[in-house]
Amino acid sequence: MPNRKPAVGGNWKMNLHAADVDALVDGLNEQIGANNTVDTIICPPFVYLQRVAEKLAAASSNIQLGAQDIYYQANGAYTGEISASMLKDIGVSIVLTGHSERRHVLGESDTLINAKTLAALEAGLDVILCIGEKIEQRQAGQTDAINIAQLHYGLAGVTAEQMQNIIIAYEPVWAIGTGMTATPDDAQSAHDAIRKALAIMYSQDIADAVRIQYGGSCKPGNAAELFAQPDIDGGLIGGASLKTEDFAGIVNAAG
Ligand code: 13P
Repeated sequence: MPNRKPAVGGNWKMNLHAADVDALVDGLNEQIGANNTVDTIICPPFVYLQRVAEKLAAASSNIQLGAQDIYYQANGAYTGEISASMLKDIGVSIVLTGHSERRHVLGESDTLINAKTLAALEAGLDVILCIGEKIEQRQAGQTDAINIAQLHYGLAGVTAEQMQNIIIAYEPVWAIGTGMTATPDDAQSAHDAIRKALAIMYSQDIADAVRIQYGGSCKPGNAAELFAQPDIDGGLIGGASLKTEDFAGIVNAAG
């Protein structure tokens, strides 16, 4: 059984304001800032990244700073967008690409998601590439086919070496923010299919080394059972990452 260090990300989405951000980061630094058995990542909204970077540095925290999005161009006339080098400048080390809300609410294409993934890697950022099926796709028996297609599109042009800097997050769309978690068996089955696809796309060694997170209504009460599955290497957490106790509980459940 390969020894993969669990990774747990907190995706705050478009939530919280400065005072809540300060309280949450102080609480997390205190409760899990010294944890070195889990790679813990928090992804605040862009406008609070610098503030969070300073608080993490001041506390010598092991928590890594992530961004929820990135643009693939290096600089120029792209009103409203943020480049990889800007993120690196303020201490961001990892970015999300392909999140279901960016795919299905903001209308991002697989091509754009791939361009963002490549630009982030090229700049030396790590990437959490998010994939996952919608409810009608699950009901039509297409879960694995959708995940594998999103994997192929998202990772097009990503080298074997760059796979060291990739985490995959399997987030079934119907489970996000709904309270409907995939059962541990269903999640494990999807993760197993993803890992098998990575073995075909790259190699068995690479597939064995890549962390695959589960996301979708993951809470302190169900995290341990999910993370106990052989191919679930942590989680990407939305709602429960906004509360110190809940997120710390989930991180502690991972290792
Ligand atoms: P919830 O944990 O709120 O379901 O969100 C999951 C998610 O989308 C994390 O990126």
